[in-house]
Amino acid sequence: LLYPVLLAGGSGTRLWPLSRKSYPKQFSRLTGDETLFQSSVRRFKAPGYAPPLVLTNEDFRFIVIEQLAASHTDASGILIEPEGRNTAPAILAAAIWLLARDPDAVMIVAPSDHVIPDDTEFRAAIDAALPRALAGDLLTFGIRPDRPETGYGYLELASPDACNASEPQPLTRFVEKPDLAAAETLLAAGNVLWNAGIFLFTARAILEAFRAHAPELIPPVEAAVADAKDDLGFSRLAADPWSQVDDISVDYAIMERAKNLRVMPYSGAWSDLGGWQAVWQESEADETGTALSGEAYAIDCRDTLLRSETPGLRLVGIGLDDIVAVAMHDAVLVARKSQSQRVREAVDLLKAEG
Ligand code: GDD
Ligand code: MG
Repeated sequence: LLYPVLLAGGSGTRLWPLSRKSYPKQFSRLTGDETLFQSSVRRFKAPGYAPPLVLTNEDFRFIVIEQLAASHTDASGILIEPEGRNTAPAILAAAIWLLARDPDAVMIVAPSDHVIPDDTEFRAAIDAALPRALAGDLLTFGIRPDRPETGYGYLELASPDACNASEPQPLTRFVEKPDLAAAETLLAAGNVLWNAGIFLFTARAILEAFRAHAPELIPPVEAAVADAKDDLGFSRLAADPWSQVDDISVDYAIMERAKNLRVMPYSGAWSDLGGWQAVWQESEADETGTALSGEAYAIDCRDTLLRSETPGLRLVGIGLDDIVAVAMHDAVLVARKSQSQRVREAVDLLKAEG
């Protein structure tokens, strides 16, 4: 069976004040009626797919339960990580947990905070990649880049043509988060795709890859899964061994090193909503480029995003251009949209103020 393994443990700050430590963006309604987590669940609700295996932490466990119930979905399991240790340990724990239940498990590992509007097209890409995964390769999905973004991994292919292929492609190199100069060089060469951070492999193959490239992670993760406590539908990984696990992403631990990595180019729309600019781009805007959400109103605005996230709190913009305003019950952001990546500075500032 093909198991969706949904990573729902991270908490980003790039969408402050909406995304918080206590309520990160995957659980918010950012671009439609469903939350990003619920859209991820729906994406893999199709014949041939097992119910999802969700990886999250203590703080979000009830949000996960609530949103699965609202989506009328049972989970194959909900693994609770005692502490965030990044994606490599989370994925390894999922593989070990699945192997104990289904030795032939195939995993489609996906962040739960991305936007992929066309589920059907995405599942078709999975179908096209599946034979290689069953043959033991590690598959990642590649997105056509349009700027030298430094927050992504880059997949270097043999040729620019390979980037348009409809079958999995071998890659010459995986470069996680290059600096700007390196990203510009990669982009100019024309034979690269962005790593979508979505992976397809058998549980067996990824365990083999950990054995080869990050063997030190295996004993503590194995122990944490073996001693996991099941209650109320959650599996709580054992805290003691988990505290011995290194904090490392799967991109650095495995993907930069694996020889049997292949890329499935995906030409459909994809966004990781890495900032307010991206949310505005993915939102339904009117002909002036103004996008509204909640009780928000615009008079004479352009290229502007206005969101009221609190029922009864009305937000009105007049004569705005290139502005993002987000009103929460306890915080309001007003920023030039083109500088909205700087909300990190706001988060640091508020932290320093206590
Ligand atoms: N359960 C769990 N536990 N989930 C986690 C953890 C963890 O400790 N850490 C991160 N995640 C989740 C995040 O919530 C996110 O959905 C996903 O795993 C990826 O983690 P990020 O921290 O967002 O990674 P990134 O954006 O810096 O980089 C990755 O994604 C890019 C595309 O969006 C890499 O795979 C890049 O190569 C890729 O280009
Ligand atoms: Mg991310």
